[in-house]
Amino acid sequence: MEIRCPRTCLLPLTTAAAVFFFFVPQILIQFAYASEKGYTRQPPGRIIFTKHDRSESEPQQVHISLAGSDHMRVTWVTEDHKAHSIVEYGTAPGQYTTMIRGNHTSYTYFFYSSGKIHHVKIGPLEPATTYYYRCGGSGPEFSFKMPPSTFPIEFAVVGDLGQTEWTNSTLKHVESKDYDVFLLPGDLSYADSQQPLWDSFGRLVEPIASRRPWMVTEGNHEIEIFPIIYPHGFKAYNARWRMPYEESGSESNLYYSFDVAGDGIHIIMLGSYTKFGSDSAQYKWLQHDLAKIDRKTTPWVIVLLHAPWYNTNTAHQGEGESMRKAMEELLCGARVDLVFAGHVHAYERFTRIYDNEADSCGPVYVTIGDGGNREGLAMSYKEPASPLSMFREASFGHGRLRVLNHTHMHWSWHRNNETNSVVADEVWLESLSASSTCMGQQPSSLKDEL
Ligand SMILES: [Fe+2]
Repeated sequence: MEIRCPRTCLLPLTTAAAVFFFFVPQILIQFAYASEKGYTRQPPGRIIFTKHDRSESEPQQVHISLAGSDHMRVTWVTEDHKAHSIVEYGTAPGQYTTMIRGNHTSYTYFFYSSGKIHHVKIGPLEPATTYYYRCGGSGPEFSFKMPPSTFPIEFAVVGDLGQTEWTNSTLKHVESKDYDVFLLPGDLSYADSQQPLWDSFGRLVEPIASRRPWMVTEGNHEIEIFPIIYPHGFKAYNARWRMPYEESGSESNLYYSFDVAGDGIHIIMLGSYTKFGSDSAQYKWLQHDLAKIDRKTTPWVIVLLHAPWYNTNTAHQGEGESMRKAMEELLCGARVDLVFAGHVHAYERFTRIYDNEADSCGPVYVTIGDGGNREGLAMSYKEPASPLSMFREASFGHGRLRVLNHTHMHWSWHRNNETNSVVADEVWLESLSASSTCMGQQPSSLKDEL
């Protein structure tokens, strides 16, 4: 059941201390956003707070994520800390032929204590097959479809999702047409330290996130640092949205990679809010990860990150610049085909770029931070328009990436109209791996690095 209410009624806290510790971080975050001058957002959408309507031992907030080529990680929360971390599953409804036991975690954040967060990695699983599953031995049955191991394959791409009426609209449009994998380049719940909003977000997205794998990376709204007490941040995000970082040789849940369509597409999730300089663990992992790709067997390489490297909106200007300077040569040298970002609450598609110039061997950059968050849209653009920017519009919506084969993919951006979803931008892209010109040339300093 959904309850609509303004943000201020979300937390029925009882003590002055609790109010202080919950709202001071929020006030600090709001102050930081208020200081971003130069653009005006549309009025924010109303937050939808989604209540828990199952028993304490039954699963809630169920979502799945890819965990290796033939495994899926099932994650859910129970209020009952004695509930078992088991998943039963099979290929027919109600007939569970396999049972896998996993592990669990929980966390505290000031006066908030999370439920028991269960993570169970199930498999091996067959591609393009529907599985029916139950979490913890009780509660409702869920089902999901494994992605295919060959082309074609389709992704839904949504950034800066939040949990507002706009979020609902976007997710409804996503679900109106089938797809295989959901990609989210950061800013999920917009809980911003109000931990019950993480639970609400998990419940809101469960009908969708329990059916198709959600592969996410972190945005600034996942940070939730509080000086001295929680200096490292990402406490809720890492506990709740565990991604396959170990499977990809990463030491951090904040950056990882995975393959889909067999090994036809390599997708890299980078962290805009963890260290990325040339001496950082993320940079070295990225070097190693890119060097392992064989473009003869993996024709497509796609990167997701949060703060865009290219952006002609007046919002968040320059925030991705230091990361771009650190890592752009690596991505371009590896002939990454496409880079998705979020953060800016609008849609923008660029041409192929390297180092601020059109370059037929560089990635196409797309900003897709328009999922439906509570902050509204970033309405103001720099003028005159840069010739590098092919299409830009401040509307809520989502993207769909359909990879047809080894050489061609189709990208489309679907604007949320009142009740319909309308294709407002689309383009065919050809894999850089099919270009003998691009594969024969690399930026000079990169050959030594890869
Ligand atoms: Fe953001």
